Amino acid sequence: CHYLPDNQKCKVFILLLCISAVCMLLNRETYSRFSQIFFEYTSPFLDSSPCACLKCLSEGNPWFMEHFNKSLQPFLTREYSASEDAFNWWKHIQSDRSSLNAHRAAVDELFQIFPNRQYNTQPSPDKCRSCAVVGNSMNLKGSHYGALIDSHDIIIRMNGGRTQGYEADVGARTTHHVMYPESAMDLGNTTHLVLFPFKTMDLRWLVSAFTTGSITVTYTTVKAKIKANKDLVMVLSPAFIKYVHEVWLDNLAHTYPSTGFMTVVLSLHMCDEVSVFGFGVDSDGNWSHYFEGLQNKHMRTGSHHGQREYQVIQQLSDLHKIHMYKGW
Ligand SMILES: *[C@@H]1O[C@H](CO)[C@@H](O)[C@H](O)[C@H]1NC(C)=O
Ligand SMILES: *[C@@H]1O[C@H](CO)[C@@H](O)[C@H](O)[C@H]1NC(C)=O
Ligand SMILES: *[C@@H]1O[C@H](CO)[C@@H](O)[C@H](O)[C@H]1NC(C)=O
Repeated sequence: CHYLPDNQKCKVFILLLCISAVCMLLNRETYSRFSQIFFEYTSPFLDSSPCACLKCLSEGNPWFMEHFNKSLQPFLTREYSASEDAFNWWKHIQSDRSSLNAHRAAVDELFQIFPNRQYNTQPSPDKCRSCAVVGNSMNLKGSHYGALIDSHDIIIRMNGGRTQGYEADVGARTTHHVMYPESAMDLGNTTHLVLFPFKTMDLRWLVSAFTTGSITVTYTTVKAKIKANKDLVMVLSPAFIKYVHEVWLDNLAHTYPSTGFMTVVLSLHMCDEVSVFGFGVDSDGNWSHYFEGLQNKHMRTGSHHGQREYQVIQQLSDLHKIHMYKGW
């Protein structure tokens, strides 16, 4: 019962549920009279729920509420004016040499091409937004999660994640695809491209990739042009990346959050129910992707704090804020 807002009401709810089951066994008439009372009693507290799911993310546990900042807007809008503070932290991620003014100019340029939308990320009492966050781990192979993944309202994939040829295990639908220039791929017409920017050039690359194709190198060669629906482009705000780093990962020095971890936190802001697939190591304890051969295995490395991220994800799972599907 601990995930329901009011423990007392919860106990009454369960009690009534049990009585209801007993009455159903007795006879139909008693049952119908009882169910009237049942709904009269319980509907006020069911109605006060912030979303239409059985339970909603944005309520309950103090640890969660301490970390979760509901008022933060995850995506860039034309009105976003980088605070000097957020920019000064963010620019160190990939040694950005741009000035704050150049950064602001790059943000302005985005909205000459892409729609300026105010995304409503707040829950609403008449909706239950279920999300599947689909990582790329080899543990998806042979999982037969495809139909389950496709049954969610929002399906978020990332980087090289693909579906063609893997539908039975990873599903076929993608509503949102997270990428950065170095991991970019073409998308279908109904998929939102969600850019995670790590330097000012990433913002300029996005404009270039939909127009002139003039930016072809960042710290490595990148796709010059991209096929995707430009009306569905969304860009994560640098201030959101700083929030994930500071609030969810306790500000650990010399790191920034991994794409997978940021996507999980982002999903907490976009959804009322979160299922996570394709995270973690494969059966030998190595990292590898379901769409690559075993020769591409590699050990857990990189500039991210894997250990801390793992603990937070574990905690979210223990508190039933996310549901982890461990794969096969
Ligand atoms: C949450 O985010 C808002 C908007 O950025 C900020 O003003 C506020 O201080 C944050 N709240 C907490 C508790 O960090
Ligand atoms: C893609 O979607 C847009 C609307 O978002 C529509 O105008 C366009 O015709 C679509 N293109 C294709 C190829 O379906
Ligand atoms: C994968 O895991 C196995 C067993 O733990 C280990 O022997 C092997 O070296 C790992 N492969 C790579 C490429 O790290």
